[in-house]
Amino acid sequence: MTFRRGVLIVLEGVDRAGKSTQCARLVQALQQNGRRAEIIRFPDRTTQIGQLISSYLEKKSNLEDHTVHLLFSANRWELVPLIREKLEQGINLVVDRYAFSGVAFTSAKPGFSLDWCKQPDVGLPKPDLVMFLQLSPEVAAQRGQFGAERYEISSFQQTVQQRFEEIRNDTSINWKVIDASRSIEEVHTDIKSASEKTIDVAQHLPVGELWR
Ligand code: ADP
Ligand code: TYD
Ligand code: MG
Repeated sequence: MTFRRGVLIVLEGVDRAGKSTQCARLVQALQQNGRRAEIIRFPDRTTQIGQLISSYLEKKSNLEDHTVHLLFSANRWELVPLIREKLEQGINLVVDRYAFSGVAFTSAKPGFSLDWCKQPDVGLPKPDLVMFLQLSPEVAAQRGQFGAERYEISSFQQTVQQRFEEIRNDTSINWKVIDASRSIEEVHTDIKSASEKTIDVAQHLPVGELWR
């Protein structure tokens, strides 16, 4: 039997688009189809770097804007050995936010270009598929109020949404835009079918390098 690597599938999207819900459903569905699959989320708040980020998001500490951007990136890099190991073992990884959130959120702050924001993440394992869960701010608002975390402010989120649109023009990435306004099951059906198709193709290809 020829060896098949796991594939790297990322879910991105605005707040409350359903990323975390759909990541869990996707992992479950892939496992039910007899595939190995695990979830990874960024920020990973469990590491030392993740704890610095978490404290910043909870507004328990302040960090300079470039510094926190680099910490979010470092939080991805510190998981790269694990990510590579899992992919080599044939485990499919479903990732809740990745470098695209990193770029969208920091570049929504004044004085940060998309280009500068991308640099620290250049060379990360490249996702085989990035699904963008698209949801209007009005519908998102009906899914609940913002919490108390640092970026949960609607004016900032609108800028983040615009940055995501610019980032999606990047044709080096395998983007798929998903209409996230439908029911959890309808959204899941689309996500599952796109993921299965990607696994069939990408499992035979080497892992790419992001933005390189
Ligand atoms: P995210 O991780 O993108 O912020 P979540 O998966 O945490 O979003 O979902 C945000 C909220 O919206 C949760 O209360 C969740 O149960 C609900 N939700 C998720 N998907 C849907 C959907 N398709 N329709 C209605 N509510 C949803
Ligand atoms: P997350 O824990 O996914 O929160 P939620 O599930 O409530 O959306 O993300 C926390 C915040 O961190 C979120 O506002 C997005 C932001 N973020 C960045 O600013 N840079 C990054 O690189 C990442 C991964 C997230
Ligand atoms: Mg979430």
